[in-house]
Amino acid sequence: MKQRVTKAVFPVAGLGTRFLPATKSVPKEIMTLVDQPLIQYAIDEARAAGIEEFIFVTARGKSALEDYFDHSPELEARLAEDGKDKLLEVLKSTYMPSGAIAYIRQHQALGLGHAVWCARNLIGDEPFAVILPDDVIAAEKPCLQQMVEAHRETGGCMVAAMEVPNERTSSYGVLDVEPGSGNAMKVRGMVEKPKPADAPSNLAVIGRYILSPEVMKHLDSGEKGAGGEIQLTDAIAKEIEGPRGVYGYRFAGERYDCGSKAGFLQATVAFGLAREELRDEFSQYLQEMMAFRSAAQ
Ligand code: UTP
Repeated sequence: MKQRVTKAVFPVAGLGTRFLPATKSVPKEIMTLVDQPLIQYAIDEARAAGIEEFIFVTARGKSALEDYFDHSPELEARLAEDGKDKLLEVLKSTYMPSGAIAYIRQHQALGLGHAVWCARNLIGDEPFAVILPDDVIAAEKPCLQQMVEAHRETGGCMVAAMEVPNERTSSYGVLDVEPGSGNAMKVRGMVEKPKPADAPSNLAVIGRYILSPEVMKHLDSGEKGAGGEIQLTDAIAKEIEGPRGVYGYRFAGERYDCGSKAGFLQATVAFGLAREELRDEFSQYLQEMMAFRSAAQ
């Protein structure tokens, strides 16, 4: 079995109901963080990690997402003609080599596990990454790259993990890990969306995974889990007893939940302030805004 991770699955077939009415016509993954759609952050992270094949699991109403990856000769010609070299560079940095992107349809939103399973024939018998584009991670070394490097040592399955407040465990897959130090923690149990009282810890799984092809086989059963959905967590949990096991990877970086409104706004502030050309004006505005608010209270 090939060990190098060169394929990534991007499940983008969810309904995005938390962003209605915008998501009536705009796929959540095309929504803009500063000046890039969420999907571009995910693609850049995957490329940095050595991914060469990008598999999108899409659904009805997501054509804007597919169009985003088309080349745009007219725009290119206009920018060249106008001497806008910097913008031309930005445009070209979004181009993907021909044949590097594949689209698969998930005909019904039956859950994340089902979405990943839809890509099984393109994955074959090799380890693969899964990236959820609505988890945006700001990190010096991109999160998936950190995980690919750690996975070279561990093999098996690996999920990105971070601590969350106890009362938030019911929004995540939660890990029970063996005690010990190090960033790659051996998992001995995982449960999807437990109530705080039932959660084995406050170590939550977030949207980056490196999975063995056996996980696809576990998904074949179509077994439903929490919320009546086919859960990816349940299929990964079946690998805990497998020969290579499952690891929770404590990544270095800041994760923003851009699938929620509050998370998206926080990411907008953080990524806006991180941009040199915006920082001064934007931080001055934020300070004035805060001063105004506290004076009004
Ligand atoms: P979410 O739980 O955020 O669901 O899915 P959602 O539909 O995108 O958004 P809300 O909750 O209705 O606002 C997490 C990830 O799994 C994908 C989503 O596209 C998202 O990237 N997903 C989820 C699928 O591709 N298919 C599914 O059936 C479910």
